[in-house]
Amino acid sequence: MSGFETVVFEKRDSIAYVSLNRPEVLNVYNIRMRDELFEVLTAINDDPEVLVAVFSGVGDRAFCAGADLTEFLSAPSPVIARRVRWERDVWGLFLSLAQPLIAALHGYVLGSGIEIALCCDIRIASEDAQFGVPEVGLGIVPAAGATQTLSRTIGQAKALELMLTGRRISAEEAADIGLVNRVVPKDRLLPTVESVARQISLLDPVAVRSAKQAVMRGLDLSLSEGLRLEKRLAVPLLQPTPSDAWQ
Ligand code: COA
Repeated sequence: MSGFETVVFEKRDSIAYVSLNRPEVLNVYNIRMRDELFEVLTAINDDPEVLVAVFSGVGDRAFCAGADLTEFLSAPSPVIARRVRWERDVWGLFLSLAQPLIAALHGYVLGSGIEIALCCDIRIASEDAQFGVPEVGLGIVPAAGATQTLSRTIGQAKALELMLTGRRISAEEAADIGLVNRVVPKDRLLPTVESVARQISLLDPVAVRSAKQAVMRGLDLSLSEGLRLEKRLAVPLLQPTPSDAWQ
């Protein structure tokens, strides 16, 4: 799939690679990017050959510095700008993908940038990454999931602190609070992410998807419901295959 203006999408072996591609404006998220991401995520969702997807940002300076403020400023009002963004549920689609998603984070990871990262299951950052949630300081509320995904990831107190102060944090602090899984030197970011993606792509895809589903759906369940879900997903994988019957 090619011909996109704001994202680069390629599939190599069983891994999908998606790069935000507006480096001249720090890969900020605009309506075009929303539409193109929606197409790309739909393609990933519909393609059984894609076992893992990797998200990164083109250029040296940013994964994504948030929403494109020029669109906010040229819209009749921030409310209308927001409503236009909601016409397509990119975030619902992102969070519903069955495959594991890995974010490769460098430079500025702000606003929608953090929200995209939080839609991913594993987040790996380079040493230069800086994270922040500036929306409330701009008079709006993060609305690409961060009010829910950030608190589920780093806990209520830290999530509110980052949202209400707009304080930017380093990659090291992001690792300390569990916002990212690990921090690597910048030149190791893509090789590390690719190696994690490859490792996952070699596993049984049904086991991988079931484990992800159990964890993600379990977040919204009570412990006993979650354990029932786990059992429902685990049992089919324990059934003997026809070839086992002869052994
Ligand atoms: N929307 C639109 N354009 C943006 C942008 C945004 N959110 N963030 C950066 N850009 C553009 C700048 O206008 C600039 O374009 P120009 O070269 O045509 O002037 C280019 O990206 C580089 O940004 P610049 O501000 O020159 O880089 P910097 O290193 O001095 O500062 C930031 C980087 C990220 C600290 C600063 O750009 C910033 O604070 N951006 C806004 C971040 C934000 O609030 N995002 C959340 C929105 S909800």
